Amino acid sequence: MAKTREVFLCDQCGAESLKWQGQCPACGAWNSLVKFNPGKHPAARQAPLVAGSMQSKRINEISEGDEARISTGMTEFDRVLGGGLVAGSVTLLGGDPGIGKSTLLLQAADQLSQNVTTLYATGEESLRQVSLRAKRLEAAGQALHLMAETNIETLLAETARLTCKVLVVDSIQTMFIDGVESSPGSASQVRESAAQLVRYAKDSGTAVLIIGHVTKEGTIAGPRILEHMVDTVLYFESDAGSRYRLIRAVKNRFGAANEVGVFAMAEQGLKEVKNPSAIFLSQHAQPIPGSAVLVAREGSRPMLIEIQALVDEGQGMNPRRVAVGLEQNRLAMLLAILHRHGGVATQGQDVFINVVGGVRIVETAADLAVMLSAASSLRDKPLISGLVCFGELGLAGEIRPVPYGEERLREAVKHGFSRAIVPTANAPRRNIEGLEVIAVDRLPEALARAF
Ligand code: TYD
Ligand code: MG
Repeated sequence: MAKTREVFLCDQCGAESLKWQGQCPACGAWNSLVKFNPGKHPAARQAPLVAGSMQSKRINEISEGDEARISTGMTEFDRVLGGGLVAGSVTLLGGDPGIGKSTLLLQAADQLSQNVTTLYATGEESLRQVSLRAKRLEAAGQALHLMAETNIETLLAETARLTCKVLVVDSIQTMFIDGVESSPGSASQVRESAAQLVRYAKDSGTAVLIIGHVTKEGTIAGPRILEHMVDTVLYFESDAGSRYRLIRAVKNRFGAANEVGVFAMAEQGLKEVKNPSAIFLSQHAQPIPGSAVLVAREGSRPMLIEIQALVDEGQGMNPRRVAVGLEQNRLAMLLAILHRHGGVATQGQDVFINVVGGVRIVETAADLAVMLSAASSLRDKPLISGLVCFGELGLAGEIRPVPYGEERLREAVKHGFSRAIVPTANAPRRNIEGLEVIAVDRLPEALARAF
């Protein structure tokens, strides 16, 4: 084995250097290198080793028995995990402060502890605070082990002593290991602490859940240092003020990425929303200008989501284009297509697009709804009543099909919508009762039929 020697870790980006330098060669930060002596902590420096992997095996010789899932007792949470926790997996849960990370994992840990030994370690709150919260959540809390600890080695020693099947670490930014000469929360501490946890999880088969705060830049502890180390990355999404919380799997080695679970924050913690397809619609007595309803597919189920637009005379030199819940560049592109192929000019106009309920839409199926809502706001005319739409737009003004067209349409009918503008290839072969399907190929057609 190679001799371990002292290395230097950058506090800003976590990059490793062999000698001390004033400036980090990776990210260019000044005075950010700190000493790390791996000699004292050999475990942290080795790549996670899955027990018994010294010899290769043929794929059919490997038993899948150890991949058994542990249910968290919350179907929505199991769903984002891909069917429950996998033994030996490491899951990172990220989100803004106060969004409900500790609440969710305390609830899950409590449920888990009824079947398997579970330890909830907190570096954020005192044991008293956690137990008060558990009481408030009406968590049975009989079997759950709690620990207020920030030293990873102590924490893992306790986890090993109890032979825990599940360990929750709240949060990775408060944890530290000896040997890294920087304070908890710095990139090097976060990276090394997480490396220890990952290694422990793989060696022992314990499922580890790590809470990570999202930094100002919107990533968990700096430039994605954690995301590639763990098996699953989950993010909390929510609108400020909304009681709904979405948990999205951004990466999942054991399930579908982009799957979402929906919860509502209530007096007694997070409650699952089992049938969430219509929660992101605002109820209008009459159709209003600037509003279009999209049938999106979030994870593996269709959801009806309202997109609102406000197009108004610009106040400054540079008109503003603001997209909340959508990608900014995509909006700029869509407005250009709208001008070129739909003859709807938005020069000199401020354009604001908002996805109702704080959902973030990543699929291109939203294109048509964004365009129709913008056109509707500009003309100050509502779209025809009972309308839903979906479809991707091409730069030539063509409307392209999206996956699962028929499933989306059936969901819309369930919620009382009577008309749908869809790409021709998505029009169902057989009639759907109660739904008038308007199949369109190009943007001008869609604009003509929508009003
Ligand atoms: P918390 O889980 O502490 O957030 P995080 O760990 O992500 O920082 O959530 C705290 C928020 O949730 C707080 O604003 C109060 C609210 N809350 C409820 O509304 N009901 C509850 O039962 C609990 C425990 C918290
Ligand atoms: Mg917390």
